[in-house]
Amino acid sequence: MAELVTMNRVTIDPTRILEHLEEIFPDREKFQGWKKDKINSEDIPWIQTSIRKIPEIVNMLEIKHGNKLLDMGCGDGRILVGSVILADLAGYRIKAVGYEKRPSLVQYAREKVRVVGLEDRIRIEQVDILHDDLKELRKFHRVYMYLYDDTNSAVAPNLEMYLPNGAIVLSMDYTMPRSWEKYRVLSRSDYNKFVIKRPDLQDPLTLLRGHSPRKITE
Ligand SMILES: C[S@@+](CC[C@H](N)C(=O)[O-])C[C@H]1O[C@@H](n2cnc3c(N)ncnc32)[C@H](O)[C@@H]1O
Repeated sequence: MAELVTMNRVTIDPTRILEHLEEIFPDREKFQGWKKDKINSEDIPWIQTSIRKIPEIVNMLEIKHGNKLLDMGCGDGRILVGSVILADLAGYRIKAVGYEKRPSLVQYAREKVRVVGLEDRIRIEQVDILHDDLKELRKFHRVYMYLYDDTNSAVAPNLEMYLPNGAIVLSMDYTMPRSWEKYRVLSRSDYNKFVIKRPDLQDPLTLLRGHSPRKITE
């Protein structure tokens, strides 16, 4: 039998990690509060990614030590908690942030993070990804999104502008706009994966493009 691991405040049997996560993150029917939140028609509903998919998601995101993960529209925070714990078990220490618009879900996800004692590694922020400033995207190496095509298209310019070179974006079920085909590395009915590539700043031609040569003076 695998040894039990005490992580944070919970004791985990690594072979039963998904069962533990399913207990911590029940089906959304158990939490009705989110239906009362005031939202716009453009805001998509809370639909949970299956806990069973989290190991594959962590693999697809190629999570490594020191990565900072963002879930754009994090719901109950399951992707963040699951990824941090699975990465820990694999020997990678990561941090994660969840953006969520619905106030009740922000509170609910924060409570989940508190229950597993991961407050120092996971932050849940009330952010409207369609209207708020997203400059913080500069800090993230890995982004998970389970949104609609329209929402993906609306946030794509910010992701493209701010994410660092090599950042991986994994979109569940839905895809990114056509202009992102240059970043695509995977196309499946369930996952679309993209890697942000910026021009090589070491390339002198790139550096010179658009600049007139400076006069060399003594
Ligand atoms: C399909 S659910 C995915 C939840 C979670 N990422 C998961 O995979 O289980 C989309 C989430 O995005 C949130 N959301 C919808 N519109 C949003 C907006 N404009 N800004 C931030 N979050 C939003 C919803 O409240 C919901 O929690």
